Amino acid sequence: MKKSERFLQLAMAILLGFPLLAHAADAKHGGEVYAEACADCHSVKEGKAKKGPSMFGIVGRQAGTVADFNYSDAMRQSKLSWAPDQLSAFLKAPKQKVPGTKMKLDGDLNDAEIADLIAYLSSLH
Ligand code: HEC
Repeated sequence: MKKSERFLQLAMAILLGFPLLAHAADAKHGGEVYAEACADCHSVKEGKAKKGPSMFGIVGRQAGTVADFNYSDAMRQSKLSWAPDQLSAFLKAPKQKVPGTKMKLDGDLNDAEIADLIAYLSSLH
C-alpha cells in the first residue's frame, strides 16, 4: 500500500471512530437521568399515566397517542413520531419543538445526557 493510501485510511478511521469514542450512549446512566428529571411525571409502566403519559414504548411511537391521556392540542396535532432525533430535539427544547406543549423541564439537559436518556428509553418495550 502506498504511503498516501495508508494515511488516508488512518485519517478515515480517526474521523469515523472519534465521535463514537467520545460518547458511547450509556443506557444505565440514562436511567439515572430519567429518575432525576422525568420519573416524577412519567411512569415506565405501560398504560400508567402520571402528570405525563407513560414512557413505555416511547421510541418510535406517534406523538400524542396514548389513549385516555389528556394531551395539549399542540402535542396531539404535532404529527411527530418519536424517532431518536425527534426525541432529542424535543428534550433539548420542548417548547421550541412543540410550541404550546404543556411539558416543562426543570433544567436543561446536555447532549450526552439526552443521548444516554434515549438509549434508556429505547429499552422500555
Ligand atoms: C413536570 C412534569 C414533566 C416532567 C418533569 C417531564 N415531562 Fe414529559 N411530559 C409531561 C406532560 C404533561 C406531557 C404531555 C405534553 C402535552 O400534551 O403537551 C409530556 C410529554 C412527553 C413526551 C411526549 C409523549 C407522547 O406520548 O407523545 C415525551 C417523549 C416526554 N414527555 C418525555 C419526557 C422525558 C424524557 C422527561 C425527562 C427528561 C420528561 N418528559 C419530563 C410532563 C413532564
